[in-house]
Amino acid sequence: MMLTIATAPIAGMKPGTSGLRKKVTEFAAGAYLPNFVQSVFDAVRPADGGFAGLTLVVGGDGRYFNRPAIQTVIRMAAANGFARVLVGQGGILSTPAASCVIRQHQAFGGLILSASHNPGGPEGDFGIKFNGANGGPAPEKVTDAIYACTLQITAYRSTATPDVDLDRIASLRVGEMAVEVIDPVADYLALMRKLFDFDALKRLFASGFRLAFDAMHAVTGPYAHAIFEGELGAPAGTVRHGTPLPDFGGHHPDPNLVHAKDLHALMMSPQAPDLGAASDGDGDRNLIIGRGLFVAPSDSLAMLAANAHLAPAYARGIKGIARSMPTSGAADRVAQALGVPCFETPTGWKFFGNLLDAGEVTICGEESAGTGSDHVREKDGLWAVLLWLSILAVRQQSVQQIAHDHWARHGRNYYTRHDYEEVDSAAAAGLMQAVRDQLPALAGSVLEGRPVAIADDFSYLDPIDGSLSQHQGLRVVFADGSRIVYRLSGTGTSGATLRVYIERYEGDASRHQLDTQAALADLIALADRLAGIRQRTGRAAPSVIT
Ligand code: G1P
Ligand code: ZN
Repeated sequence: MMLTIATAPIAGMKPGTSGLRKKVTEFAAGAYLPNFVQSVFDAVRPADGGFAGLTLVVGGDGRYFNRPAIQTVIRMAAANGFARVLVGQGGILSTPAASCVIRQHQAFGGLILSASHNPGGPEGDFGIKFNGANGGPAPEKVTDAIYACTLQITAYRSTATPDVDLDRIASLRVGEMAVEVIDPVADYLALMRKLFDFDALKRLFASGFRLAFDAMHAVTGPYAHAIFEGELGAPAGTVRHGTPLPDFGGHHPDPNLVHAKDLHALMMSPQAPDLGAASDGDGDRNLIIGRGLFVAPSDSLAMLAANAHLAPAYARGIKGIARSMPTSGAADRVAQALGVPCFETPTGWKFFGNLLDAGEVTICGEESAGTGSDHVREKDGLWAVLLWLSILAVRQQSVQQIAHDHWARHGRNYYTRHDYEEVDSAAAAGLMQAVRDQLPALAGSVLEGRPVAIADDFSYLDPIDGSLSQHQGLRVVFADGSRIVYRLSGTGTSGATLRVYIERYEGDASRHQLDTQAALADLIALADRLAGIRQRTGRAAPSVIT
């Protein structure tokens, strides 16, 4: 039975973000979730024929509220006229796997349920976003349309059907609509087999190579068990915290040096295996640590791009690289050496979609532990680990040796990100405005002895569709390429998160220092003076340093 249920507009979606991220308590209250889902359907419904004949993919990272949310989405998809829903068994689909399934099955799009690296559980966060037929996050014109619908909604459509059994792989029906509960790993595994030389990786593990992969009790557990231990023959125990839990075992599934500190400690110890890696809640981020060396994500992007040709999928070379603006310039130097273009986009994976679809770039990355390629339209944590493994298998060197070779050849971009989390929103806005006000005077001036080349509020003109995205971060770029960038997070769920990105290039390998914070100390202090960070936020130190 179809139901049309009266409702009222919802608050809370931030315009310009690719989805909705909120506390579970807000999501689970009243018609919050149905209102958002209906707003998505209203915004993307094809003018001719509606959703007849079309497939929707649904899955999430297994966090608290994942299952009831999926049941809601399935009932609403049926009532809105979709022909078919593909849903991961147990409600599980990592974000890159969802992208893969959308593309593989020529779906109309998908709804991905996750709050990424944010904590889960009844008091934790939940999120939902729409990805289109290319498997990527909806572009801004679509998210703007969704946002407009959330402000106007008066009713949503659902069926009065019972919950479907998500735990058995089966073909079911909900009203007129087909529901297929699919193996969440199968399509993704098949794609990874095509990209990488699994036989070479099997030989690597057979030769005694050791990997420690921390799934952080989040979605990559089943994928990592199946790929590393199942397919590639890595010993049992290679995958840690491999069972997805609704509250991620009480931890933040955020693969940074704070939340993955046990893995970091292991990799710095005498017992360190050859490679340490971790992924986040929904499986799109990656952390890479060699024995005794943390590989900063911006460096990892550059090193993956420089060595990608060692894996079969990229053997003929890469077409180009794209990085988000705050990501370090290390990838630019690789692009230059390879003679391919390097694009600088705003923060957020959605900005890579057009470049990937147009075949302009093969590899993309962000400083926030996201790397990926044109194989899907999301960043992909396990892909990054498999590419690192492929490089290590061919080069037969340690991560440290590969990193030092890279810096000797391309120079080193010292880079750090300082996050000030849950800062008072007004104080954060005031800080940004104070920096913005200084930009016109800074451009072309000399700041404390440093000539300023660019001082602006970054904006991006998409070379493919001509759309303009403004206010994407305040940057002060010095003549020697050093930079300070200030941004407010678009993904935090309480207060404001200020991110300060600091970078300096050192071309002379003999002057390389091991300690990044020490290498950047002058610029870090300057960043504070320029923005009055300590004074305005009331914080003596950042909450997280990466
Ligand atoms: C953060 C990262 C950004 C990433 C996004 C989604 O966004 O900085 O690179 O694309 O999460 O994973 P932010 O909180 O900075 O807006
Ligand atoms: Zn994520």
